[in-house]
Amino acid sequence: MKFTNKILPFYFVFGASLLLFSCKKEVQNEVISIASSEKIKPDSTVQYKEPFRPQFHFSPEKKWMNDPNGMVFYKGIYHLFYQYYPDDIVWGPMHWGHATSTDLIHWTNKKIALFPDKLGMIFSGSAVVDLKNTSGLGTKENPPMIAIFTYHDMEGEKAGRTNYQTQGLAYSLDEGETWMKYNGNPIVKNSGLKDFRDPKVFWNPDTNLWNMVLVAGDHAKFYTSKNLISWTLESEFGKNIGAHGGVWECPDIFKLKVAGSNEEKWVLLISINPGAPLGGSGTQYFVGDYDGKSFKTNQKDIKWIDNGADNYAGVTYNNTPDNKRIFIGWMSNWSYARDTPTKNWRSAMTLPRELLLAKINGDYVLKNTPVEQFKKQEIVAFTKDEIILKPNQKTTIEYPYLNQSAVQLNAKNENLKLVFSNEVKDSLVINYDAKLKTFSVDRSHSGIVNFEKSFGEKIHKTKTPNITTETIDYQIIVDWSSIEIFLNGGVYSFTEQIFPNKPYTKLSIQSDRNQEIKNLTISKIKGIW
Ligand code: FRU
Repeated sequence: MKFTNKILPFYFVFGASLLLFSCKKEVQNEVISIASSEKIKPDSTVQYKEPFRPQFHFSPEKKWMNDPNGMVFYKGIYHLFYQYYPDDIVWGPMHWGHATSTDLIHWTNKKIALFPDKLGMIFSGSAVVDLKNTSGLGTKENPPMIAIFTYHDMEGEKAGRTNYQTQGLAYSLDEGETWMKYNGNPIVKNSGLKDFRDPKVFWNPDTNLWNMVLVAGDHAKFYTSKNLISWTLESEFGKNIGAHGGVWECPDIFKLKVAGSNEEKWVLLISINPGAPLGGSGTQYFVGDYDGKSFKTNQKDIKWIDNGADNYAGVTYNNTPDNKRIFIGWMSNWSYARDTPTKNWRSAMTLPRELLLAKINGDYVLKNTPVEQFKKQEIVAFTKDEIILKPNQKTTIEYPYLNQSAVQLNAKNENLKLVFSNEVKDSLVINYDAKLKTFSVDRSHSGIVNFEKSFGEKIHKTKTPNITTETIDYQIIVDWSSIEIFLNGGVYSFTEQIFPNKPYTKLSIQSDRNQEIKNLTISKIKGIW
């Protein structure tokens, strides 16, 4: 047949609509509804059920909390102390709050452990068990628990002195129930450094000495001691290396085995505020060697433990029973920590995470992943072995518990977009771009964002060169006011606060490419309170 000018447009339109029709057929979207009897509803009158109250993360019963402190395991109990201000939901004169757990999942709130005194407020620090009673503050039969923290002398600061931060010691002879201040405080004086704080103390079996690392503005200082009371400065690290967009805070140092080899390396964690890639607070790490006195590294680039906006001041447990390196971070950011829309309390901790060291692309990578025992909290609601998605096709899962859930899936190393949403059109968008090798979290329309300018301002984007596998494991854990995302067992993690106006009830899975989703599992997470 000869196409005339007249009939050509007809065939064109007809053909195109056929094509469109067949495409439409291809991209038919699937909706899966997971039935459920009750819906989780915030209740402003019931404690731990208030709007945005984390259901399975640690948060203080009431009032303000920031950094985790004094994390130590002793006689079957994980102690978690934390920066606490019991009189308001904003930062104020710091105390150490206290909670305990036998499994790192369920917590019992204890009474306040440390109160400010005439030497100052009680800033961040750590705790150990002095098993050999090297300090002489207990007995061998009843070894003292020892907390070493920073005194922040407000009066000194106001008076314009620069040495207002010193290190103090407190001890407990009843396994952490009650605490006494050492009468020779401060145990480490300050020769005039404006920032001089956050001591991490631990027993070093390689050298049979107590070791301490603390931070002084733009560097870390390493000390040793025989008795936890008198300390010798051994070395400094960091003035010309790493990120320096803000003050160094909350250091930690520990040894890890490199997965799949016998190599051991030391990891130094340094929190920094401001100066994180997304603005505000973040935690960088260095991988290197440490002989009990000084730390050295060949590392050139800057590495971050988490690529989300809300994982700060995180440190690890001393004395874990299984030798695992367990990390907890403060799930907030100084840019807006005081402004988040909660009423009776402010802020929560990240899930406890195990730290592992791997070598990827010839370089050391610190992985972090929720502790194993968290699995016990998951009640599987839905599984699907395989979902084949054509370009722009969408599978939507409707599930009333999405705001208290874990979503796991394995996807081709190809573009993938996951959108959590609710009936009032809040949406939290997670996007992986395989070509650009970037991963992003967009919380700009995730719910309440306007309490502070930067919170919802930009898409949080990260380059992900360490995703080298053909398929990617996604683990996504959503609580009432947070999302934690782990890629490939924690090669990358993203921790973000969110404040949806209503619980998310829909998850859509889509791609602009051919995508194959395997082993999708959606679980409800049991509440811990
Ligand atoms: C980190 C930090 C620490 C300090 C504490 C005070 O968030 O600034 O450096 O000890 O908080 O609450």
